[in-house]
Amino acid sequence: MIMKINNKNNAILVKHSKSLEGLIQTPSDKSISHRCIMLGSLCVGETKIKNLLLSEDTTITINAMREFGAKIIEDKENNTVNIYGIGIGGLFQPSKNIYLGNSGTSARLLMGLMSSCSVEVNFEGDNSLSNRPMGRVLNPLSEMGLEILDESSGKLPIRLRGSKMSIPINHKITVPSAQVKSALMFSALNIKGKSTIVEPIMTRDHTERLFELFGADISVTRNNEGYNLIEIIGEKKLKAQELDIPGDPSSAAFLIVAGLIVPKSKLIINNIMLNPTRSLFIDYLIEMGGDIKFKNKYVKCGEQVCDIEVRSSKLRGIHTPKEVAPSLIDEYLALSIAAAYAEGESRFCGLSELRVKESNRFNAIKDLLNLSGVSCQEVEDDLLVKANENVRGGSAIKVNLDHRVAMAAMILGMNSKYEISIDDISPISTSFPEFEKIYSQIGGSYRYI
Ligand code: S3P
Repeated sequence: MIMKINNKNNAILVKHSKSLEGLIQTPSDKSISHRCIMLGSLCVGETKIKNLLLSEDTTITINAMREFGAKIIEDKENNTVNIYGIGIGGLFQPSKNIYLGNSGTSARLLMGLMSSCSVEVNFEGDNSLSNRPMGRVLNPLSEMGLEILDESSGKLPIRLRGSKMSIPINHKITVPSAQVKSALMFSALNIKGKSTIVEPIMTRDHTERLFELFGADISVTRNNEGYNLIEIIGEKKLKAQELDIPGDPSSAAFLIVAGLIVPKSKLIINNIMLNPTRSLFIDYLIEMGGDIKFKNKYVKCGEQVCDIEVRSSKLRGIHTPKEVAPSLIDEYLALSIAAAYAEGESRFCGLSELRVKESNRFNAIKDLLNLSGVSCQEVEDDLLVKANENVRGGSAIKVNLDHRVAMAAMILGMNSKYEISIDDISPISTSFPEFEKIYSQIGGSYRYI
């Protein structure tokens, strides 16, 4: 018997699903959508973006860029967003505080962007974002010229003053984070001279690819230590683009795992981006024994995209080394569910960054699995999952404002013996507003409590 765990309308009870079937269109990629909104806003002229992800997080970036002076118009009929930008360094002084909600990507990339312009900005966010570390971007940006105007512990809310006289940076990334790298890159766009960023461990490279596409002066090479060397010469005008955004592999990950763990299932999932810094989890799922077939491959927005067919599979445990953690960072929740239903033990290594996501996802995975009858232990920064083909469920899961924890719990409960209750599924709309609809369409079952 599961107790009601929340009084709001966002709590649900997930029931066992018999089998899953359907054709799914993956929602557009969140990382690329944020970056295209920002880059389109920095062009003079019209950027047309087809299939832009319109979720809570990306709407936050849209609203921020409007506040900085860009005109952004949604053309619902053609499923396009048209952006009329202000040019590099042309940011207006915002007339009000910039609210960043739950969105870490908006926070860090926008701090980078405004840091080299003469604007003063009050940034604020929700409870989750206000507990996440911003020092990792504020410290290098301060070396370039950003001023922190209040006594701050490196967390939101924070008041920042950018500088038109910023100096180019030569910075070696210490936290493997695409958000930190991208913050510095957006700052460098408006700085006279050459900024150099050295990235020892590769993270998602959308900013590099899009800067090139929009005509920024960027070169990406390898230095003699084998590290990524990103060089940007600032103040080059960007060229407005017409783009079509590919599907988000991190959102598709939950549906792929659902197709694998629920018996007698067959799902066709279209429009999954195969950028190697994002789609590594598919290789691991195949190594686990997942029946995943690539159907069509095509290119969108300079990225490889494909359709896949997923069928229920008997899975084996897996070991993922520390070095690949940044390329799996948003998929550990989905992978740990696959591991829960696999045979044998799985070990995911080097997950320290999971502790500072929308919630402490390291603990979230432990709680989700242990409360549901699957042994999951912490060994330093590694997670050890002891698989159990008959996952018990019967757990009450707290989401702590984390969209991916909510989706993970909904997938885990599709094949658990007892129902799983989830206190709040509303955060899912930060990245995947259609998730509930698709979940039901393919055969998932839940009810509000
Ligand atoms: C993102 C980078 C990752 C990822 C986040 C989106 C991005 O964060 O977890 O969901 O768009 O750059 P970190 O770069 O901080 O690991």
